Amino acid sequence: MARLDTLKAKAGERALFLRSFVAHPRLVGAVLPTSRRAVRDMLDLAPIPSARRVVELGAGTGVYTGELLDRMAPDASLLAFEIDSRMAAELRKRIVDPRLRVVADSAEALGAHLEDGPADAIVSGLPFTSLPLAAREAILDVAQRALAADGTMLVLQYSPLIQGELERRFGSVRRRISAFNVPPAFLFACTRSSGAAVRGGER
Ligand SMILES: C[S@@+](CC[C@H](N)C(=O)[O-])C[C@H]1O[C@@H](n2cnc3c(N)ncnc32)[C@H](O)[C@@H]1O
Repeated sequence: MARLDTLKAKAGERALFLRSFVAHPRLVGAVLPTSRRAVRDMLDLAPIPSARRVVELGAGTGVYTGELLDRMAPDASLLAFEIDSRMAAELRKRIVDPRLRVVADSAEALGAHLEDGPADAIVSGLPFTSLPLAAREAILDVAQRALAADGTMLVLQYSPLIQGELERRFGSVRRRISAFNVPPAFLFACTRSSGAAVRGGER
């Protein structure tokens, strides 16, 4: 019975995700949520257990959110952005955790919501290559400014196209491919090397 409930919940999440894709294909950028295996592969690229403040961009149905909370310390915090208000509302209902704040707003507004200091980790599931150029640049600008000097930004994409832009902005980018996803996912872990410029001011 418990297994049947889990399967029903999963089918409901997938249906919600697909509806959102049909309504806004360029913003959602995928027909299925990221696989559990790819989520784990991505989060293995950053020291999430020691992070005080974590930010998630494009939380969707929460596949990263749950795994992040499982890995985070009891007194850490997670600020999750999801522009689709229905998905954000479902996420708030499904994952109740005092460390989590779900913001139904664009990731472009990150600076206005990150009150307690820079983020130690930023985890992005945003489809950067299909977002409007202005939104992509605004989000990367704000994320770059919000990241602590020794923080890590993780980015999942379905192509390697963004890699050059990430390298120019952050200085150091490690790449891994997770084959256990439809389609296979490119995972990027970005850290700031001393030479990398921070747009809008140095930290
Ligand atoms: C490819 S889906 C990833 C969802 C989830 N993280 C996953 O891996 O299954 C991208 C998500 O980003 C959201 N999104 C798109 N543009 C956004 C923005 N500017 N700010 C916040 N969320 C956004 C979409 O609504 C969608 O839920």
